[in-house]
Amino acid sequence: MTAIGANPLRDAADRRLPRIAGPSGLVIFGVTGDLSRKKLMPAVYDLANRGLLPPGFSLVGFARREWQDEDFAQEVHDAVKEHARTPFREEVWQQLIQGMRFVQGDFDDDDAFETLKATIEDLDKKQGTGGNFAFYLSVPPKFFPKVVKQLKKHGLADQAGDAWRRAVIEKPFGHDLVSAQELNSIVHEVFKPDQVFRIDHYLGKETVQNILALRFANTLFEPLWNRSYVDHVQITMAEDIGIGGRAGYYDGIGAARDVIQNHLLQLLALTAMEEPSSFDADALAAEKTKVLGAVKLPDDLSTGTVRGQYTAGWQGGEKVIGYLQEDGINASSKTDTYAAVKLQIDNRRWAGVPFYLRTGKRLGRRVTEIAVVFQRAPHSPFDHTATEELGRNALVIRVQPDEGVTVRFGSKVPGTSMEVRDVSMDFAYGESFTESSPEAYERLILDVLLGDSNLFPRTEEVELSWKILDPIEQYWDSNGKAAEYPAGTWGPAEADEMLERDGRSWRRP
Ligand code: BG6
Repeated sequence: MTAIGANPLRDAADRRLPRIAGPSGLVIFGVTGDLSRKKLMPAVYDLANRGLLPPGFSLVGFARREWQDEDFAQEVHDAVKEHARTPFREEVWQQLIQGMRFVQGDFDDDDAFETLKATIEDLDKKQGTGGNFAFYLSVPPKFFPKVVKQLKKHGLADQAGDAWRRAVIEKPFGHDLVSAQELNSIVHEVFKPDQVFRIDHYLGKETVQNILALRFANTLFEPLWNRSYVDHVQITMAEDIGIGGRAGYYDGIGAARDVIQNHLLQLLALTAMEEPSSFDADALAAEKTKVLGAVKLPDDLSTGTVRGQYTAGWQGGEKVIGYLQEDGINASSKTDTYAAVKLQIDNRRWAGVPFYLRTGKRLGRRVTEIAVVFQRAPHSPFDHTATEELGRNALVIRVQPDEGVTVRFGSKVPGTSMEVRDVSMDFAYGESFTESSPEAYERLILDVLLGDSNLFPRTEEVELSWKILDPIEQYWDSNGKAAEYPAGTWGPAEADEMLERDGRSWRRP
């Protein structure tokens, strides 16, 4: 099969293992939204440009806008020009545009879903998509049930013969355990489990997948990866941006539901889980589920959790407004823009090792990292003054930006006396590899088209994550308001105190 692009942009890794999607198409609901413009449309183009899409690949947009196919194609074109990672190539674009269609309507509109059905049948004939379509629900969560039901009602979820139909569902998957269970049951009335792909785009990140390679393809780290050597683990996802134009989504949801329930708990699961028997979707899910099921909340939620909200401050030399002054935010909102929790994992490997998770908007800078911090040497032959500046050994997985891994350890300071100080050993993706990393959404869209579900959280994982978060949210709801922190700082003082009480401190990444 010849894929859409010729292949100069396909990198070495892809040449060794060409994973090219078979005949197929993608329908995006909510195609006029930000995610679609900034991530999905560019990802489709980049996949085509790297030669990973089939020749007749088709892209269908569904939205209320009164657009013709040409208007939609123009939107995709603009989004690609602005956000794609690979250079624009006219021949790739001309081929991709053959399969672009737009269906106008809202989610209650039966006629629009019939038009969608006819459009797909037409693409099957003209583009050879073989009836294989993925439906990407890039819409506000309240519309998930409606769209899924419409797909069923109009026979769009039916898989005739060898053809496949798949549903891709963006986070947040529910806002608590009960709503996630309700949503799961609606989705599973229509789609079988292997047809459902729940997106957690962190799992599509190269560095996140590397957690498994680092742990399980090497002998160096795993012997130390347990309570005998590890003092604690810190997982940080800090953002410098505020909520931008997302007030409608964010207010009432907050930082913990927005990213701890999904991205951070997935990072915890990959860091803490046992070795899966293979890199197969079932084996991975089994281990992630086991470890998420062993997560234990602090006995006292008042000292083991912190939520914060940013106030006006300075960032990158500019004055920025506080959360309550952002457009569309209720002036008395208690929504957390910062959240920190201390979790334990109740199993033999991790008993007694705290996992501190924190995330926030308008923090010092954008950085996501997992720091495995080791215990101090049990005995030192050097006198106290030689090691007084020595910190704890740490292995830091730098998820973004500046992707890589750092190992921090003590080394003798050059000179005639014995003095030991922290030094770092760095692996940086940019320096070690010439291959480029695909954007997370590229990888995940390709996986959907290939039916490869390794990187998609299962129902059980989503529900277990809500089980962890629900008591925290309930506690916060009934206990006062969020602690304040000025924009541009590293969160509320209460978060520092949480670690100080344990004789530890947050890293300043
Ligand atoms: C999304 C959250 O899932 O992740 C956003 O809803 C957040 O609030 C975003 O900004 C961060 O993604 P990334 O890939 O830029 O770290």
